[in-house]
Amino acid sequence: MSRILLTGGTGYIGSHIAVCIQSAEHDVVLLDNFTNSDIETVEHIEKISGMKPALVVGDVRDTELLTATMNDYEVDAVIHLAGLKSVEESVAEPERYYDNNIAGTESLVSAMEQAGVYSLVFSSSATVYGIPQYLPLDEEHPVGWVNPYAETKVKVEQMLAAKCQADPRWHVVSLRYFNPVGSHNSGLLGDNAKALRANLMPMIARVGTGKLPHLAVYGNDYDTPDGTCLRDYIHIMDLAEGHVSTLNNIDRFPGYCAINLGTGEGISVLQMVRAFEAVSGRKIALLAEPRRIGDVPVCYANCDKARDMLGWQSSRDLNAMCASVWHWCQQLES
Ligand code: WQD
Repeated sequence: MSRILLTGGTGYIGSHIAVCIQSAEHDVVLLDNFTNSDIETVEHIEKISGMKPALVVGDVRDTELLTATMNDYEVDAVIHLAGLKSVEESVAEPERYYDNNIAGTESLVSAMEQAGVYSLVFSSSATVYGIPQYLPLDEEHPVGWVNPYAETKVKVEQMLAAKCQADPRWHVVSLRYFNPVGSHNSGLLGDNAKALRANLMPMIARVGTGKLPHLAVYGNDYDTPDGTCLRDYIHIMDLAEGHVSTLNNIDRFPGYCAINLGTGEGISVLQMVRAFEAVSGRKIALLAEPRRIGDVPVCYANCDKARDMLGWQSSRDLNAMCASVWHWCQQLES
C-alpha cells in the first residue's frame, strides 16, 4: 500500500485520479486551496470509493505545510496537479501564472527533498508542443509556447528534468494531457468549470442544460474536413488510469521522462456537438464566431510511448465521453 499526495486533488482531474488510485489499493492525501474546486468533492470521492481521503487545506507555495504533510502522512509519491490552467487568463495575468505554476512547483520540489520523497508525476499539457510541426504529436516534437500558461508548463518540465539530471534519486514523469473530458460513471464528479469562456465540453453541456442559448463555434473555415478544429479528446477516467499506470512504473524509469496521454484520434467541434446531441437528445444551437486567438487547427497525440512504457492505452470512445457528461449534468440537476 502506497500513500500518494495529490496537490490540487479536489479539482476536476485530481478528484478522478483520487478515486482511481483508491481503487488501486493506494491511500490518497489531497492538498488543495479550493481556488478552482469545492470541498464537497471530498465527500463525493468517499461516496464513490468508500474511503475518506485525507484532506489538507493549503497552498502548494506553502513549503513548510507541504513538508509537514509528507512527513505526517508518510507520503511515498506525489502527483502535482495544483496550478492555474486557463490559457486566456494566463495572457491577461502572466505573473499570477508564473507564481502559481512555476514557483508553486519549486516549493513542492523543495518540500519533497526535505521530506525525502523523490517520485513525482507532473500534470503537464499538450500545449507545450505549441504549433504542431508534424502530426501526430510524439514526445520528441519540439516544445515551445504561444501563451504564458504553456510557458509555465515548459519551464516546469525543464526544471524537473534538470533536477533529475543533478540527482539520480529523483524519478519524474511529466504526463502531457491532450483534452480531458467526461465524468466518473457515478455522476458525482465532473468539470464544473468556473471560467466564463470554458473548454468545449463544459460549454456544450451548458447549452444542453439550457444555461446558455447557443454554443459559440470559434472558426468554421479551417482546413479540416468540416471546417472546425480537431482535438484529441480523452475520457477523464482513461486519463486517471494513466496516472495509476505511471505510479506503478515510475521507479523503473531512470530520471525524467515525458509521456503523452491521449487517444491518438482528432475529433472536430462539430463531431463533438453531434455526439453530445445523440446521447442527450438535446439540440445544441450553434453560432459561428471568429477564430479564437491561439487556436491551432489540428492537434492529436502519438500514444505509442504510453503503450510501450506504461502498458496503458485509452479505451473509452466519444460516445462514452458524452454520455458520462450528460449523466453528470442530470445528477447536478436532480
Ligand atoms: C477545443 C476546440 C476551440 C469552446 C485547452 C488548453 C489546453 C488544455 C485543454 C490544460 C477549439 C473550440 C471551444 C467553445 C469552441 N488545458 N471551442 N467553442 O483550446 O484545445 O485546449 O484545454 O492543459 O492547455 O489550451 O481546448 O476545449 O478550449 O477548445 O468552438 O465555446 O473547441 O476553438 O477549437 P483547447 P478547448
